[in-house]
Amino acid sequence: MSGLVVVSNRGPATIAIGPDGQLVARHGAGGLAPSLARALRGERARWVASAMTEGERRAAREGVPAGLAGDTELRLVDLPPEVRDGAYRVVANATLWFLLHGLFDRTRRPVLDRRWREAFERYREFNHAFADEVAETADEGATVVVHDYHLFLVGARLRAVRPDLATVHFTHTPFPSADELEVLPRAVVHELLDSMAGFGSCGFHTARWRDNFQAAARAALGRVPAAFVAPLGTDADELRRVAADPACAVAGEALDAELDGRRLLFRSDRVEPSKNLLRGFLAFEELLEERPAWRDRVVFVARAYPSRQDLPEYLAYRSECEHLVARINDRFGSGGDGPIRLRIEDDFPATLAALQRSDVLLVNPIRDGMNLVAKEGPVLNRRDGVLALSPAAGAFAELGAHAVEVEPFDVTGTARALERALELPADERAARAGALARLGAAHPPAEWFHELAAHAARPAG
Ligand code: F6P
Repeated sequence: MSGLVVVSNRGPATIAIGPDGQLVARHGAGGLAPSLARALRGERARWVASAMTEGERRAAREGVPAGLAGDTELRLVDLPPEVRDGAYRVVANATLWFLLHGLFDRTRRPVLDRRWREAFERYREFNHAFADEVAETADEGATVVVHDYHLFLVGARLRAVRPDLATVHFTHTPFPSADELEVLPRAVVHELLDSMAGFGSCGFHTARWRDNFQAAARAALGRVPAAFVAPLGTDADELRRVAADPACAVAGEALDAELDGRRLLFRSDRVEPSKNLLRGFLAFEELLEERPAWRDRVVFVARAYPSRQDLPEYLAYRSECEHLVARINDRFGSGGDGPIRLRIEDDFPATLAALQRSDVLLVNPIRDGMNLVAKEGPVLNRRDGVLALSPAAGAFAELGAHAVEVEPFDVTGTARALERALELPADERAARAGALARLGAAHPPAEWFHELAAHAARPAG
């Protein structure tokens, strides 16, 4: 039995089968899992997550070997492939994720046909399996903290079977307006919002997402559920410790050699349609076009982590990024060396080394729940780097006053903002960088997690 239960689709680490057939843990994929794992260091918590890999399915059957899940007791929910596929790929990633980020190309998507409805039943089944796992093992009155859109329907089930539990849900993505939610059938919107209202409270990274949630619930349910704002920050000490690793120093020397005295414009994202990589590249192209003096003076390094390559939209987006960069590099490059270095790979040391060195960090998402890169950059940076930040990132609410604003759809405006950022006087850079570094280190994961847990409550009525 357990007094604190954390529930998320992805667990603290990816469990794989090692070369000798033993189970090994790899660095957790995705934005949420690493922060949550850090938040739970030293906590006696049970973590309920989905068995996603072959190694995790084996661990679900045989038990998770001690030490693979940090300090938590990891319980993996192993569901048949068709349930996982319908819930995770079709509903969570191909539908809810696009809806939450306001990114549907409405002339074509979504297509809510019979197969989609079957997938939604799988999503319900998936959520109920998670809720039942919690219900069976949580102590009387335990605190249950549930994360993200994969698990919106856990609230209603827990409210029905274990009303004694103090529950809270946290959404790490944006939350759309009531109008945008209208893309889904009314009954589905009602079910999702009613289930979210079945938690003791619902948390978001900024007031904008919380207000959207409460307004949508008022419109659909006729009542306003309890909700709160708890922005997540970085673990600055841990980041600096990892960045002091020799692997980062080696990556940093390689980057210095590549820059060869030129300024560094940097970005780091998962390759996701919400991140707005394409308009970032187009803005850089416009800058080089309009201000030729910058052509030999700045290099744009874009480190992009592969993401959700089983979705056609993601594959198409990745390929469009690669083609656009190739075109711009052909136009402005010499000897095969273009001004944009797009690296689609998972290389954490190289990312940290670039964050330390960037003169300008571009974070221009179309919409983002928080965007931790906007905080990690200033915490690590050693050059009084400027943050060029979209107001549609949750992080803007905290950092916007010290950043250079880039409106996500305005390519010309972004080009001008990048130039302004590159030309800011040293004293202004230093003042902004100092403020951003302080704000980026606020609300470290452990503190943030305690704040969430403090909002856990027995569901109303
Ligand atoms: O896009 C952001 C996000 O949806 C987070 O809310 C979540 O932590 C993560 O992505 C999940 O990613 P994945 O599908 O790779 O587990």
